[in-house]
Amino acid sequence: MTRIIDGNEIADEIRADVKASVETLTDAGVQPGLATVLMSEDGASETYVSMKQEACEELGIAGHHHEIGPDEPADALFDRIDELNADPSVHGILVQMPVPSHVDKATVLERIDPEKDVDGFHPENVGRLVAGNARYKPCTPHGVQKILAAEGIDTEGKDAVVVGRSDIVGKPMANLLIQYGDGGNATTTVCHSRTEDLAEKTRQADILVAAAGVPEMIDGEMVKEGATVIDVGVNRVDADTEKGYELVGDVEFDSAKEKASAITPVPGGVGPLTIAMLMYNTVKAASVQSGVAVDLP
Ligand code: GUN
Repeated sequence: MTRIIDGNEIADEIRADVKASVETLTDAGVQPGLATVLMSEDGASETYVSMKQEACEELGIAGHHHEIGPDEPADALFDRIDELNADPSVHGILVQMPVPSHVDKATVLERIDPEKDVDGFHPENVGRLVAGNARYKPCTPHGVQKILAAEGIDTEGKDAVVVGRSDIVGKPMANLLIQYGDGGNATTTVCHSRTEDLAEKTRQADILVAAAGVPEMIDGEMVKEGATVIDVGVNRVDADTEKGYELVGDVEFDSAKEKASAITPVPGGVGPLTIAMLMYNTVKAASVQSGVAVDLP
């Protein structure tokens, strides 16, 4: 029987731990604060940011939402980041990606105070992750690690294949999988758009993480019998629904399910973990910045 992994259930447990830490902090007079900055009118980005703000509200984290018009100069964003860096009530800053093409992404990431970089995208934090001394693990790959741990799927010595080499998921995911310790020690291959014979690589995977952003590109033929399949893709495809689209992953669920021993659905798989881990990082940031200790597993 293939196990369909319930990401909401795993995220609920993490949120409960985060909420307890929020209470520890607020009892000590520190309310964790997260600033989200949106410089886009893309519908999916708007949805993601509002879900992040809703999660803050649910957990007692102060959410500060900022919008900057997508046609405004890059300095409008940089100045806002400077203000948020200087604001002691803001412990975490998240600039929703992608930013408009006239804004240099690298400059955005470098502008955020590394201690407030709850995405873990600042070069200092990327370097720490690679060095095995992460300050904030990027939310989606960290969420994938939490799923594997919650499902009792040991990564040690396993063949892991990550499809996708984005800075947000693919690269940090691979880095986490090769680290020493729990959730790591996997023999890890990273595949991408230039990989020759992708199916030959994915069929080696005991743990297959699909994060390429291509709807249903991984089908059952590409999955090893008994593999764990983690689908990070969230793709809007045209459909005859009220919204005019539906969400599908990077994995063709029905055929992959026939081969996998465990698989995440879309929606309801990795997505809820991404937001839970953002809340986790925000509370960790508030703890580090205030010096009030919290007990986060
Ligand atoms: N866009 C898509 N995923 C993410 C994420 O995890 N963080 C940010 N800042 N932007 C994103």
